[in-house]
Amino acid sequence: MIPEEKVREIAERLSIVEVVSDYVPLRRAGGNFLGLCPFHAEKTPSFNVNPAREIFHCFGCGEGGNAFSFIMKIEGVSFPEAVKLLARKAGIEIEERQLTPTEKKTQDEHVQFLRINELTTSYYRSVLLNGQEGEAARQYLAKRTVDTDISEAYHLGFAPDRWDGLAKHLQNNGVDLNIAAKLGIIRKSDSGWHDLLRNRLIFPIRDARGQVIAFAGRVLDGSLPKYINSPESPLYHKSSVLFGLNMALPSIRTGGSVIIVEGYFDHLALYRAGVENVVATCGTALTSTHAGQIKRHAERVYTLFDSDNAGKKATIRSMELFLEQRIPAYVISLPPGDDPDSFLGTHSAAEFVAIRDKARPAFEYFVRSLLAETPPDSVDNKVRIIDDIVPRFRKIADSVERDLYEKEICRLLGITVHSFRKRMQGGGFAHNKDAATSQSIILQPGDNVQDTLLALLLNYPDARAEIVRNGLDNIFSDDYLELAGLILDRLDGSEDSRTLSHMAETFAKPEHKILFSRIMVSDGYLDDIEWRDVLNQCTRSNERKQLGSIKEIAARLAVLDTNCDEYTLLLKQADTLRTRKSKL
Ligand code: UTP
Ligand code: MN
Repeated sequence: MIPEEKVREIAERLSIVEVVSDYVPLRRAGGNFLGLCPFHAEKTPSFNVNPAREIFHCFGCGEGGNAFSFIMKIEGVSFPEAVKLLARKAGIEIEERQLTPTEKKTQDEHVQFLRINELTTSYYRSVLLNGQEGEAARQYLAKRTVDTDISEAYHLGFAPDRWDGLAKHLQNNGVDLNIAAKLGIIRKSDSGWHDLLRNRLIFPIRDARGQVIAFAGRVLDGSLPKYINSPESPLYHKSSVLFGLNMALPSIRTGGSVIIVEGYFDHLALYRAGVENVVATCGTALTSTHAGQIKRHAERVYTLFDSDNAGKKATIRSMELFLEQRIPAYVISLPPGDDPDSFLGTHSAAEFVAIRDKARPAFEYFVRSLLAETPPDSVDNKVRIIDDIVPRFRKIADSVERDLYEKEICRLLGITVHSFRKRMQGGGFAHNKDAATSQSIILQPGDNVQDTLLALLLNYPDARAEIVRNGLDNIFSDDYLELAGLILDRLDGSEDSRTLSHMAETFAKPEHKILFSRIMVSDGYLDDIEWRDVLNQCTRSNERKQLGSIKEIAARLAVLDTNCDEYTLLLKQADTLRTRKSKL
């Protein structure tokens, strides 16, 4: 363990500009330094380094953080490694701190966990390869044309049809079974220890470094459940694990793209066909943590989910995650009824690659499937379609892409670009245009009100107190609300700039990190202002935005049947809004 004071000392000794300059030529631009982002390809610089805050942020790809996270990202190293690297640069010697007894215990346990999983993997593997007990599994693999090389590459195994085969094996190897139980692979009952997985083909689940962290077991016949996965444990968090990532990394690095599939066997079939840049989720829907991981390794992502309804939903949900993280996403569609395994059973790898090359941008796939579900043949339907599209459309980061989609959507729906934009704005774009023109203070054009409010919260303790008094949820919404809560929690009375520059690292959600570092490098315009004026201006603009929705409601009322519940409900809402407006 590296002592906290050392990390501070290094941060104080090195300026972030000095650190980044080793990799990226920077030039001064106002309070920031500017350069070409090393994390994505760009021709005009959008990579900002703010020396006062010791923080960087790229407006192009959203990457951001402090000097340590910069090194972690650009060198592809862990936090302790990044600290050591910068210590060397700063000429600071690091003696690692003695672990506390609790840390020592956790570390020892971790070592034991890994050993237990190794023992378990080789136990299952030897049952599969040797002896009578593995015969059925060997036949099963032969039937699915899984040869010995593939079986070896995945470390496949077989859990015998016995109550305590694994428990006994671990015991014979001197394992403390209570520790093994924390991994969920064996359990204690009144009749003694027994195994979780019995009579199942075993897929060890490995992390990015190839260490086994969990197991999945498939039945050999049609019985249910088809798979049993070992439960969440100190090693295994299924919302962040991508199955097969360790096997896929080299090919993701060379090609820049990754394919996400649903099943272990889908992964296997593609790998066998020579398509190696593939990962699978472990029986869960894709999460933002997964998307964050993918962003760390790949520039582009393909989803390859089933063509049934559940698969379509999963595809669209994952598109939203990728839009949020600004990862270009494409959808591979196999012929209806096929999954990668069945497809490659009857087609060549080249045929798969040809289909992959025809993958459609995820947003286009989304719009098309929306239109297939709801034909745009009435005003009511068009309104519904647009309302489905708008929140997702807003997440498209690239302006060229937005332009193209805007035209395409309008063409498909038979509406004008003007009316589409009106709908977009009515839907609550937190834009400060009217606030800026009605007041003497000019806010940065393009900044939105929520950005400004968050910047006030960070910069002015008095404004912060005022915002807290007014109630965070009266001022912020969505991600901003969550982030504001986190910031208050982290600040907690401490005011120094170091807290701020390290704060981004403490947020679990990538969207919070992005938002935070974006605001930190772009709030220079707030340096000499009267915070109270700006705050008033922003809160008024917030309210006006809500009132804008009266018009929206009226539009909706016009197409609704006056007898339906929604009509009555909307009418009430419109009344409430009107009363508030007259009070303003
Ligand atoms: P599939 O049923 O498509 O499994 O479920 P598969 O891996 O392609 O297997 P085959 O080809 O039918 O043999 C997709 C994924 O959903 C999870 C597993 O991760 C599986 O790989 N799953 C499925 C479960 O966790 N439990 C189940 O009971 C079924
Ligand atoms: Mn499948």
